[in-house]
Amino acid sequence: MSAEVRRPEIVVDLDAIRRNVGILRGLVSPDGSDVMVVVKADGYGHGMLEAARAARDAGAPWLGVATIDEAVRLRDAGDDGRLLCWLNVPGDDWAAAIARDVDVTAYSVAELEAIRAAVGDLPRRTPARVQLKVDTGLSRGGSTQDLWPDVVAAARAGEADDVWRVTGVWSHFACSDEPEHPANAAQERAFLDALAVAEAAGLRPEVRHLANSAGAILRPSSRFDLVRCGIACYGLDPAPGVSPDLGLEPAMTVTAPLALTKRLHAGASVSYGHTWTAPGDTHVGLVPLGYGDGVPRHAGNVADVWVDGKRRPVRGRICMDQFVVDLGDDPAEPGDRVVLFGPGGSGEPTADDWARACGTIHYEIVTRMGGRLTRRYTEAGR
Ligand SMILES: Cc1ncc(COP(=O)(O)O)c(C=O)c1O
Repeated sequence: MSAEVRRPEIVVDLDAIRRNVGILRGLVSPDGSDVMVVVKADGYGHGMLEAARAARDAGAPWLGVATIDEAVRLRDAGDDGRLLCWLNVPGDDWAAAIARDVDVTAYSVAELEAIRAAVGDLPRRTPARVQLKVDTGLSRGGSTQDLWPDVVAAARAGEADDVWRVTGVWSHFACSDEPEHPANAAQERAFLDALAVAEAAGLRPEVRHLANSAGAILRPSSRFDLVRCGIACYGLDPAPGVSPDLGLEPAMTVTAPLALTKRLHAGASVSYGHTWTAPGDTHVGLVPLGYGDGVPRHAGNVADVWVDGKRRPVRGRICMDQFVVDLGDDPAEPGDRVVLFGPGGSGEPTADDWARACGTIHYEIVTRMGGRLTRRYTEAGR
């Protein structure tokens, strides 16, 4: 049974991403909405370009990324659909995005001025596509509601000068994974107010969007024209225990061959700091992955992996390159397959199990996996 795993790898099921995007599009379409698939941060660890391709295959009309660099990478790889980016720092190369027909996001009059300057430097005089983000209560990016009329006025002036078209107005939820949280209704009201200000100033954005995955699934009133879904497209439930079962399938499996197995005697202590001591004789296996590959150090002594049809506990601390699992009375062999987490259908731990064990969220678990891990993609027909 040993030879099937070649090396430590992240296996990404692109068909699962396609099906998940299809499920989400079907969910929101009765409300006249569609899905922007969020592929920032290397597609939440799944690979940005491949996740983007799967999303487009599934009909996603929009992709979303944080930075201009991410948007440029997508364009350079051949993606030519609608694409929004939304996180900038002073001095960013707005022209690179605008020249590639990326919709950029402005949070402030200062950013609109920088965009105006960038458009002026471009040889082509097609208006840029700009979206405006309003802060409705997350208190992160976006214009405050106080400054919103100024941002809207500057945006309208740019339209009048043919510098850009305002293609969207949007905001972002703080608590959408807690559907009863009063912030959701408050943010939605603030968003409607901001839209009314934009409308009164003469802006006619083609897309208005507020919801992330949890909002899209749990709050139909927040669907507007688009929902920006990240985590759900990768098959992870944005509000575990709260969302209805939509049939989403986790797309990521992290796996490695056992590097070594050995017998430990009772009283032997394991890994740095000797934080676990074998209460009796046991077998252990060495997994050749560590925090250098994104395995959280917090998983020491609390997470499980899957070896030979059973969950096995991690023993001792996670090191930079390796960690130890307890195989009990079942001596596995070097080369046997270890699954850290996967879809869970065979009993293996899920990213959500790892998140709970480590006191974090599955977003962080999947996004951080990398380091020396290689990615392998599976999809029907390839
Ligand atoms: C602005 C914005 N929109 C949408 C998303 C997607 O959120 P989720 O992965 O919860 O669907 C993110 C991700 O953090 C985001 O930053």
